[in-house]
Amino acid sequence: SASDNGTGAARGLWSSRMAFILAAAGSAVGLGNIWKFPYVTGENGGGAFVLVYLLCIAIIGIPIMMSEVFLGRNGRHNPITSMRLVAERNLRSPLWRISAVVGMIAAFVILSFYSVIGGWSASYIGHAAMGDFSGGTAESIGELFGGLLSSPGQLLIWHTIFMGLVVLVVSRGLKGGLERVATILMPALFILLLLAVGYAATTGHFGEAVSFLFTPDFGALSISGVLIALGHAFFTLSLGMAIMMAYGSYLGRDVSIARTAVSVAIMDTVVALLAGLAIFPVVFANGLEAGAGPGLIFQTLPLAFGNMPMGTLFGTLFFVLLLFAAWTSGISLLEPVVEWVEEKTSLARTGSAILVGLLCWLLGITSILSLNLWADVAPLGMFERFEGKTIFDLLDFFTANIMLPLSGLLTAIFVGWFVAKESLKLDLALDGGAFSLWYGLIRFVTPVAVIIVFAYNLFG
Ligand code: PFF
Ligand code: NA
Repeated sequence: SASDNGTGAARGLWSSRMAFILAAAGSAVGLGNIWKFPYVTGENGGGAFVLVYLLCIAIIGIPIMMSEVFLGRNGRHNPITSMRLVAERNLRSPLWRISAVVGMIAAFVILSFYSVIGGWSASYIGHAAMGDFSGGTAESIGELFGGLLSSPGQLLIWHTIFMGLVVLVVSRGLKGGLERVATILMPALFILLLLAVGYAATTGHFGEAVSFLFTPDFGALSISGVLIALGHAFFTLSLGMAIMMAYGSYLGRDVSIARTAVSVAIMDTVVALLAGLAIFPVVFANGLEAGAGPGLIFQTLPLAFGNMPMGTLFGTLFFVLLLFAAWTSGISLLEPVVEWVEEKTSLARTGSAILVGLLCWLLGITSILSLNLWADVAPLGMFERFEGKTIFDLLDFFTANIMLPLSGLLTAIFVGWFVAKESLKLDLALDGGAFSLWYGLIRFVTPVAVIIVFAYNLFG
């Protein structure tokens, strides 16, 4: 109801600022940090890419995250309703809520295939624990991965398990579900990562990894690498998906949005860098290829685990960690849509979570089939640009490259240009200099940067 606006008391709040930070960090920290960051860094030459990526987090990611949290907390409803309310309060068109609509559709679609990849992580825990990587060769490990991808039955089982885990937590609501899981999993993830880095330090190639990650060689960075860094900064912080709006809607009024956003961004960045420090020493020690691409974790690392001392333990821990990270991100993808269904229909929390989860699970089956039975089905194959792209590829392309930047851009423009400055000042409660810095970034720097990425993704 609208009467809880301002306090949010009727819908409940995070029990502490830390709980919000952990939940938001749980969303941000995911496959993007542990699977994607190392391989895109490897593909884009290391240090210089990392430096640009850090800059993007600071000047684009953090300002947009602050804007999303502001919108959620100011609106105190599901993301779509929140944006409409904030627009109305500022005497602006309710159509601005299209930004949240696009973000929520993207979240729903992304979850459908994120769950499939989360399922791979779950299945690899079993393989690692049972010693299936032991003494493996590139061929045998490749067969293991290929076997998983070519089996619709196996993929379906793991997809179902992953989606079930996500629905289970979301159906329990704010306190019993999200918050509890995040407060346990996030610290566990940090500890596991530190262990992994500790192990990597014993490989004798730690220094090599450190200089690969932190010595900028701008000759190794292309213009497209700069744009990839910007796009990844977006994805890794879970921006443009209405998630920070949904989470922000439960945030207490006395909490500093800026300090919170900065904390989340720092945690996400630290995890990505730790993942790099855990993975690259192993890659170098085993003469593997840093620029191996998406297979880095699922193909090259198991090879390393299979041939190192304590590899069974280390490999199992690694995939447990990956599943934890994917799980909390999956939860955050389901939350905004469930919040919306719960508020808009007569369904209660559990019913909403099961309904949305079921629909998302069904959509995920198209991604599973894209990996095997429908591998040759290219629905947009008549356009040159989409030749050979499976349904899975298309879902990934349209969400990551079009919907997220569009949603983020609309959010930045709306908050920067159409929300009263006094209202922003009041809610952000920053001192003059910090406010001016954020305001300048969100009005000018962020939209221009996002438009560049957007245009590059569309036409580049
Ligand atoms: N930020 C997550 C990651 O880095 O893996 C991925 C993600 C989570 C993307 C949630 C989108 C999302 F809504
Ligand atoms: Na991330």
